[in-house]
Amino acid sequence: MPDRIRWGIIGTGDIAKKFARGLKELPEAELHAVGSRRRESADEFAKQFGAARAYPSYQELAHDPDLEVIYIATPHQLHRENSLICLKAGKAVLCEKPFAVNASEAQEMVHFASRSRKFLMEAMWMRFLPAIRRAQEWIGEGKIGETRLAQASFGYRDSVGIAYDRECAGGSLLDVGVYPITLADIAFGGEMPERVTGFAHLSKGIDEQAAYVFGYRGGGLAVLSSAIKTRTPSDGWIMGTEAMIKIHAPFWKSQELSLVKENEVVLNEKHPMIGNGYNYEAAEVMRCLREGRLESPVIPLEKSVQIMQILDELRDQWGLVYPMEDS
Ligand SMILES: NC(=O)c1ccc[n+]([C@@H]2O[C@H](COP(=O)([O-])OP(=O)(O)OC[C@H]3O[C@@H](n4cnc5c(N)ncnc54)[C@H](OP(=O)(O)O)[C@@H]3O)[C@@H](O)[C@H]2O)c1
Repeated sequence: MPDRIRWGIIGTGDIAKKFARGLKELPEAELHAVGSRRRESADEFAKQFGAARAYPSYQELAHDPDLEVIYIATPHQLHRENSLICLKAGKAVLCEKPFAVNASEAQEMVHFASRSRKFLMEAMWMRFLPAIRRAQEWIGEGKIGETRLAQASFGYRDSVGIAYDRECAGGSLLDVGVYPITLADIAFGGEMPERVTGFAHLSKGIDEQAAYVFGYRGGGLAVLSSAIKTRTPSDGWIMGTEAMIKIHAPFWKSQELSLVKENEVVLNEKHPMIGNGYNYEAAEVMRCLREGRLESPVIPLEKSVQIMQILDELRDQWGLVYPMEDS
């Protein structure tokens, strides 16, 4: 592995730009190349973020011989295909959330990475942020006793973009529901819920808003929701038998935690992010590559597949099938 790990990025949209800014925080990372569907976008992005090479196709980027790792920043329906072209070209892959459109696609990506012995990780950046890691420690240290209830919502109001596009596997669940679901996963120490149930308001073939409840062995519950046309409060709560944790808003990029006992804040900690936060997941990828790992212990591939299974289960209950699944 070279001293500076050379990154490529597929796609030049919003999150690609944020990630490129995040990489700048890491002296051991170099944004080496970008691939776009259009030459002009690739050139412009490369110029803006100082990448040495710009490609007018994703395939050409994947085959750049000087790249160690490629970050996939395209819409959900392309995650599988784009990850596979990079893995086939021998590259490590960091793929945006949701990991794929469904669990079957996710499983295919995981099998391919494992067969070809290439690193693969879902870019669920929230899991790597200092405040979230600290909340996990608090739970592990028994500060709240036994987890009984988790509560979180991620809702915003907009009307344009890939989240509203059925052809891009849009809708609130896949776009932002993965964050409250991640909070529930953290709250219950990675345990899979025994029961998953929910309601959604579907419009134009996507879920505009949805609410779901997970039931865990032993009676724990997670009460979660997501929306793309309704703003919601955005703090997250994890309630235990002894105390509760408030993950200050917005919980998915929180920088502050409070431990609340009998309505009193008994502990408050601030955990500011360095950079824009996307640097943490990139740093984890590079740590894993240097250690010769094929997956991250923070978000193992099995976990990414499990989260997709939960999304599948909910969409199944709602009768929400995307065009690319309709065969
Ligand atoms: N981790 C996070 O915080 C976070 C935040 C936002 C989004 N995301 C995830 O990142 C992915 C991209 O989201 P985004 O907000 O960056 O989207 P975006 O701004 O629309 O950008 C997506 C990019 O993908 C490429 N693309 C290829 N086929 C496309 C198509 N049919 N429609 C639109 N774009 C297409 C385009 O790049 P080229 O034209 O250059 O090929 C486009 O700029 C999504 O899966 C989303 O869930 C993650």
